[in-house]
Amino acid sequence: MKIKVKIKRCDPMASGRCEAYIQGYDIKAKKGMTVLDALIWIKDRLDGTLAFRRSCRSAICGSCAMMINGNPKLACKTQILKEFEKRQEILIAPLGNFSIIKDLVVDLTPLWKKINKIEPWLNPVGEPPETGWIISREEAQRIDNESACIMCGVCNGGCNSQEGDPDFIGPSACAKSYRFVGDVRDGSKFKRLEKISREHGIWNCMRCLMCNQYCPKGVYPMTAIEKLRAEAIGEGIVDNFGVRHVDAMVESVRRVGRLDEAMYTFKSLGFLRAVGMLPLGIRLELHGKMPHPVIFPEIDGIEELRELMKTVEEKE
Ligand code: FES
Repeated sequence: MKIKVKIKRCDPMASGRCEAYIQGYDIKAKKGMTVLDALIWIKDRLDGTLAFRRSCRSAICGSCAMMINGNPKLACKTQILKEFEKRQEILIAPLGNFSIIKDLVVDLTPLWKKINKIEPWLNPVGEPPETGWIISREEAQRIDNESACIMCGVCNGGCNSQEGDPDFIGPSACAKSYRFVGDVRDGSKFKRLEKISREHGIWNCMRCLMCNQYCPKGVYPMTAIEKLRAEAIGEGIVDNFGVRHVDAMVESVRRVGRLDEAMYTFKSLGFLRAVGMLPLGIRLELHGKMPHPVIFPEIDGIEELRELMKTVEEKE
């Protein structure tokens, strides 16, 4: 089947800035052909100047992450005809949330720096036993998903929190962090959790679930973030805006049966930072997007809701 493959290209190295343009290539797509096969074919036969990364061609090395029809994916794991059938077109672009080096090659330095920050190595306590560090099958299964991460950056490329806050530690580093936090041989659990609970850490994830959806290896990074949050609270690491935010939300629901945005912004961020949000709050209020901070009646049936919350808390 003849199809046109559109590729978003740019060469900042040549011009000093990225002046992106779309270039189309006609190819004959066959069943079983991956997007990476198509790119290799284009580079070999039509245009040797096209730049992209690849190595294993088997979804192992993590080199070929890119945007395919708007979604971050591994090119070597994506069937080109299936993608074409969905949208009647193929548009390939560089991975989101990273700056472009050339065409489909992005600068992954921020990803490596973030992964390095979480100390991606085991810190065992004491001398190794004679048998070596052995863990049971059940203990290993706890970190099975996270151990499968190939650090391709697909999750970071689709991360909405990273788009809003480039310093956010990101789903990939969080999954890697849980791989060690959840490892019974590791001796620096508290230190790891304390570090990753700070600003731009686990509490900055907005839980959009995109990383869980896009990860090509079933790592489920957002689930790892949830586990890190639970572990951090379990270790008593609660002096941060994330935990204050959760507490304030629960308190608001218990008090009036819904979210009192004005109040829980003050409780989550603290007085001074919340004052900085006042202009936004006023604009929201004027557009009817936020309940009035003073006139804030309880919802009907609040007693029933409180009873429900009490029952859940007692069970927990
Ligand atoms: S080429 Fe190695 S993961 Fe795609």
